[in-house]
Amino acid sequence: MPLKIIRNDITKIECDAIVNAANSTLLGGGGVDGAIHKAAGNGLVDECRTLGGCEVGQAKITKGYNLPCKYVIHTVGPKWSDGKHAERELLESCYRESLRLAKENACESVAFPLISSGVYGYPKDEALKVAIDVISGFLLSEDMLVYIVVFDRASYQISERLFADITSYIDEKYVQAHFEFNLTRRDRAGESAVLAQTRVLPAEDVSCNVNAPAPSEKNLSVDEALKAADESFSQMLLRRIDESGMTDAECYKRANIDRKLFSKIRNDINYKPSKATVLAFAIALEFDLEETRELLMKAGFALSHSYKFDIIVEYFIKIKNYNVFEINEALFEFDQNLLGV
Ligand code: APR
Repeated sequence: MPLKIIRNDITKIECDAIVNAANSTLLGGGGVDGAIHKAAGNGLVDECRTLGGCEVGQAKITKGYNLPCKYVIHTVGPKWSDGKHAERELLESCYRESLRLAKENACESVAFPLISSGVYGYPKDEALKVAIDVISGFLLSEDMLVYIVVFDRASYQISERLFADITSYIDEKYVQAHFEFNLTRRDRAGESAVLAQTRVLPAEDVSCNVNAPAPSEKNLSVDEALKAADESFSQMLLRRIDESGMTDAECYKRANIDRKLFSKIRNDINYKPSKATVLAFAIALEFDLEETRELLMKAGFALSHSYKFDIIVEYFIKIKNYNVFEINEALFEFDQNLLGV
């Protein structure tokens, strides 16, 4: 998956390069800087001494020494004051310069902490947005596995409003799914047949009636409908990418899917994807709920209100927010798997 958000100690991450949120002396400090220097050993600070410091927004590279990575990329984030002193531009530059160095040194994987969001006081949700904006922009044209490593829950949060909206959407759907499940269980016991008849399904649940024609068959001729019905997941995906006018690469990058997985799907008409992969492509192609259900059905899945993962993705489809990285921020916040591989 090109961009993953994970909860871990960055000094434990085995990848080609980890990024250090340093200060301009590059001689170590507290926070993640202190943790990286401690884990790397004295060789790191000895090499840093030869670099002559680093400007805010710039980045310099050293070896990784005792860390489980080849390189450490040291970058100096801006100190937050009021958002009117080019803090965002400088922070963007930290990510851009670090990614440039990673690419120049042929790194296939790189891990970032949330730069400036600790001692330097950058508001955490804004710091995360800047990280995701710059990294996702880079990944549209480059192939690299990028981790954003969150150290503690406090240093990670999506906006309060979004969190509240999703929480109430989950409560509404998730509770209902369990309500239905409980009713069915009691029905089987014959305890509340009457109650079951008084249960009203909300409108959208009716549309997932399995007997309804698949949405794309509604206005097709019989043989087109039969052809569409026989289409595999892979065939439907490739057809819809062509119809969207996107290139394959544009689509799988918007789905946060790596090139290798996409070529497996393209070369095997009977490829069996994971549910998260199917949903990632539904998001990349900006499908509505009916089209999403159709693509899921091709791979043998269905949207379910018994899983928070499904409900959160359904929420974003309903509000027509197809930014896979924003959806992954929310999924991460609710401790769910992420979209993509
Ligand atoms: N792994 C991953 N992330 C970590 C770790 C760790 N081991 N330790 C801290 N973090 C997180 C913090 O929770 C924060 O979200 O890294 C983020 C950046 O926090 P800081 O390390 O305080 O870095 P920053 O805010 O950029 O301030 C840099 O602090 O440590 C000094 O020498 C450093 O002067 C520089 C300043």
